[in-house]
Amino acid sequence: MDTLIIEGGRPLRGTVTISGAKNAALPILMASILLDEPVIYTNVPDLRDIHTTLRLLDILGCPAQFRAGRVRVEPGALRTEAPYDLVKTMRASVLCLGPLLARMGEARVSMPGGCAIGARPVDLHLSALERMGAVFNLDEGYIHGRCARLKGARIQFDFPTVGGTENLLMAASLAEGDTVLENAAREPEVVDLANFLIRCGARIEGHGSSEIRIHGVPGLHGCEYAIMPDRIEAGTFLAAAGITDGELTLVNCPGSDMEAVLDKLKAAGLSIAPTADGRGLTARRAAGGLRGVDVSTRPHPGFPTDMQAQIMALLCVAQGSGIVEENIFENRFMHVQELVRMGADIRLSGSTAVVRGVPGLTGAPVMASDLRASASLVLAGLAARGVTTVQRIYHLDRGYEHMEVKLRAVGAAIRRAAARD
Ligand code: EPZ
Repeated sequence: MDTLIIEGGRPLRGTVTISGAKNAALPILMASILLDEPVIYTNVPDLRDIHTTLRLLDILGCPAQFRAGRVRVEPGALRTEAPYDLVKTMRASVLCLGPLLARMGEARVSMPGGCAIGARPVDLHLSALERMGAVFNLDEGYIHGRCARLKGARIQFDFPTVGGTENLLMAASLAEGDTVLENAAREPEVVDLANFLIRCGARIEGHGSSEIRIHGVPGLHGCEYAIMPDRIEAGTFLAAAGITDGELTLVNCPGSDMEAVLDKLKAAGLSIAPTADGRGLTARRAAGGLRGVDVSTRPHPGFPTDMQAQIMALLCVAQGSGIVEENIFENRFMHVQELVRMGADIRLSGSTAVVRGVPGLTGAPVMASDLRASASLVLAGLAARGVTTVQRIYHLDRGYEHMEVKLRAVGAAIRRAAARD
């Protein structure tokens, strides 16, 4: 398992190009299952989870080619089983459920299994699909769903689930009649999926609001579609500029859909401004230095849970304290103990972490546990005095495209080493 070795204390300066969004690309690639024509995607990030999704599409009968950010998928004779050994590596595999039921009337998808950041069940997905006529049973760890023809329904989500909204958007696009999703997720990645489906001929309104209306159509055609920029990668690099007291310009990052993150980072002492062409952002530490702020993660448009670990790293070296409340996942503080090993002063109490800023962190060997925790440890390593080795960075590779290459290009002393087993 690879390791990242970071020699901290170097301000990052220069330009970073933000890649396509993992959490938009995954559902949009899965939506290929709905199409009866080939489809071309561009700005697709080169990530482990993307390649896992393309392998799953191959298994399901939609062979896909990835070449330098461009993906072509050729939907063929569909198979309906998503195998355990693949689903266990990526929870988002469950996003094939809605499309398979809509096109084939059947789906056998392995239960996603536990995840480092919490139980993450799919009960909201299943109960919503049942409202459309699907029948599920669980055998041998597989969710087996059947439905002769999905029928439009009015569905009220108990929680604005991102994956649940995405599964239902795809299922309802080919269902008979009208579907209304209430308390739907408003994340920008959900909007990107809806825009893709509309480009393929779906009839969808209200995406981006908490009530989405879908009028089912008989079929969906192919198209060419560019994946939206990754707002979480962007937020991570903005935090990198602040924590290293450098100055970074992010390209392909308009900053739209990032208001909560930008507001919070500015309150924490960053100066962030749009570039002249409006297609990027420039960030550096403001004159007053970093300040402790309180953060509560919320569904969009609130502060995203996927930026919680990263802003916590920033707060570790701010003046004063900040209270971080994680309201989306029940176990998303795995980075805390590792940050404490680097000298951070963080006290946990249930879903709340109290972060007291310290003058500086010291490098140490630390262990990544999930995707965003890995990013948090890299940020801390960039700021720490001395050398930090981040182990198990396959977690990082799931969601950040060539992160160490991008960081080295703006002055970080960082390199990847194959771990000595
Ligand atoms: C998506 O996960 C993202 N993943 C996550 O990003 C992100 O953290 C999350 O949305 C919240 O924004 C992808 O888009 C691939 P949810 P998802 O359904 O769809 C509970 C990253 O780091 N829940 O909104 O799984 C669930 O347990 C990843 O890029 C149910 O109880 O998120 C969780 O506590 C991590 N039952 C909460 O809701 C369900 O049926 C949010 O889940 C579904 C969800």
